[in-house]
Amino acid sequence: MPSLKSYNTFGVSSVCSEIIECTSVDSLRQVLRSNPHACVIGGGSNILLVNDIDQTVVINKLSGIEVKHLANDRVLVKAGAGVVWDDLVNFCVSKSYYGIENLTAIPGSVGAAPMQNIGAYGVELKDVFLDLKAMHRNTQEIHIFNNEDCQFGYRSSIFKNAEKDQYVITEVSITLSRIKRLNTSYAPVQIAVDHLTEDASIEDIRNIIRDIRWSKLPRPSNLGNAGSFFKNPVISDSQFTVLKNKYPNIPSYPAQNGIKIPAGWLIEQAGWKGKRVGETGCHEKQSLVIVNYGEATGREIFNHAINVQSSVKSIFNIYLDMEVNIVGAM
Ligand code: EPU
Repeated sequence: MPSLKSYNTFGVSSVCSEIIECTSVDSLRQVLRSNPHACVIGGGSNILLVNDIDQTVVINKLSGIEVKHLANDRVLVKAGAGVVWDDLVNFCVSKSYYGIENLTAIPGSVGAAPMQNIGAYGVELKDVFLDLKAMHRNTQEIHIFNNEDCQFGYRSSIFKNAEKDQYVITEVSITLSRIKRLNTSYAPVQIAVDHLTEDASIEDIRNIIRDIRWSKLPRPSNLGNAGSFFKNPVISDSQFTVLKNKYPNIPSYPAQNGIKIPAGWLIEQAGWKGKRVGETGCHEKQSLVIVNYGEATGREIFNHAINVQSSVKSIFNIYLDMEVNIVGAM
């Protein structure tokens, strides 16, 4: 049975019955026609394979980047779902198309980006997203979803909720600006910009963010991981007041419907930061990231995540929602 080890950034050695790489919409249609429930993977950077997969796994390799210039110095960039997200970022930076440079160095594919509305350093995909094409698994028809249709939220979209497992994203369009517009709202980015001797360029921002990212987060090529394992929880004002009295240094950010607490802080307080448990554990610099030290099974990583979740719940009475997609946990 073929191994999926090189198809998931956790580096878990699950096997499946067959791996098919789809490089065209027609080949994807053909596979879904015979197996609408095939497991589809993009860059494999936000999944945890808990078991072996007793079926076909499709690797979305739909490629191509197209550019169309629009009025008012706007530019439309259309990319195949199988394009590596960071290749798209680098392409846009090289052309000075402003808008996604803060989303540099995020592992994964273009098609996975809208699934969870990727976000980092003050920017979210939804800020630049125009629309996407997706193939319905049962009818194999292509549907178009605009920004509103996708119901983007913090690390979520309709594809993680009401339309979960119904569609395979085939193409994503974003609109960027050719007029210089930089986002330095994340404090460490502004500090680094202040240290430059000249005005920051789009390349400077990309490089600064790449450096910040890799100074905190382990690279999947060195240490298996899927980025943040949990979402940052949002709690009520009253629950926050109680916690603030008990933990005066608790970090927090205002959120739409309450107060957002960094899950990394909660996990660190619960004693998990840098703690190795067998072949897995929470990373030494960012406890929100669960890592595979080499030979962890998906089940072992999953069990560790459950232990972290229950200890945070019992100490803080806060439930940490998993951000990573769990495949085959039952
Ligand atoms: N913190 C700790 N201990 C830790 C980690 C974090 O105390 O082990 C506290 C610190 O107080 C720190 C605060 O948490 O100031 C925030 O940490 P950080 O700036 O690293 O951001 P985050 O909230 O942990 C989120 C995203 C990241 C994204 C960064 C930067 C989520 C779930 N994660 O992390 O996204 O790169 O902000 O914008 O929202 C990802 O989704 O995979 C991801 C890496």
